[in-house]
Amino acid sequence: MSDLTEDEAFLTLYADLAREGPGASADLGWALSVAGTPAQAHIVDAGCGSGADTLTLAKDRPQARIDAVDKTPQFVEAAQKRLAPFGDRVQVRQGDMARLDGPYDLIWCAGAIYFIGITQALTAWRSALANGGRVAFSEPCMLPRPSQAARDFWSVEYPQITDMAGIRDRVAQAGYRVLGENLQIGAAWENYYLPMERRIASLRPDASPSLAAALDKAEAEIARWRAAPSEIAYALMVVAPE
Ligand SMILES: C[S@@+](CC[C@H](N)C(=O)[O-])C[C@H]1O[C@@H](n2cnc3c(N)ncnc32)[C@H](O)[C@@H]1O
Repeated sequence: MSDLTEDEAFLTLYADLAREGPGASADLGWALSVAGTPAQAHIVDAGCGSGADTLTLAKDRPQARIDAVDKTPQFVEAAQKRLAPFGDRVQVRQGDMARLDGPYDLIWCAGAIYFIGITQALTAWRSALANGGRVAFSEPCMLPRPSQAARDFWSVEYPQITDMAGIRDRVAQAGYRVLGENLQIGAAWENYYLPMERRIASLRPDASPSLAAALDKAEAEIARWRAAPSEIAYALMVVAPE
């Protein structure tokens, strides 16, 4: 029998995780409050993965209409199952988050905007925002005076990383202003990596060679994070078009 492809091995590890990137529901609450998102808002979770934040939005905003979009069919399927109890109020679909219709009061994008680029995404999303609409997104951020361990982590995970000033520049280049910024360090990353460690341990005994390689890669990433957990940060940005 042939082994899993690299993509299949990746999805075997990631598709059943509660979330596919760092995040915490408290940070989402902070963003909604800074954005001033109304109770009856129309919100989209762009790059929703398996729908961790879509679920928080659906629970915390019972009067909101929520869309969720992801390009990966396996994540879309997982999110659809998870959000089914909310009925038509929450719509999860496969699609390209660069092409949103709206109009949305809030475009939420956790750990996914780097696939498009901040300036490009914000430019594309302008026409999908309602009057007074906001975008909240998270992006890797290099903290001041990084240790070698922090540099090592990012040199593998995201060599294009900038500091906070670089993130603000990319926001400004799209003609947006910053309403609030918050660093995600520690808990948001534990929410991602601790369940992943458990998943790796459960898959390890029967792992085929390609799955074992995917598990090794994920373990190495977690080990690099553990070497500098108080320095590995996402900047959570709430921005509005000028
Ligand atoms: C690191 S994961 C984050 C998922 C989720 N937001 C979370 O925090 O758990 C990034 C997600 O972006 C999705 N993605 C990447 N490019 C995309 C695009 N152009 N349109 C829609 N989804 C995209 C990937 O499939 C993946 O699910």
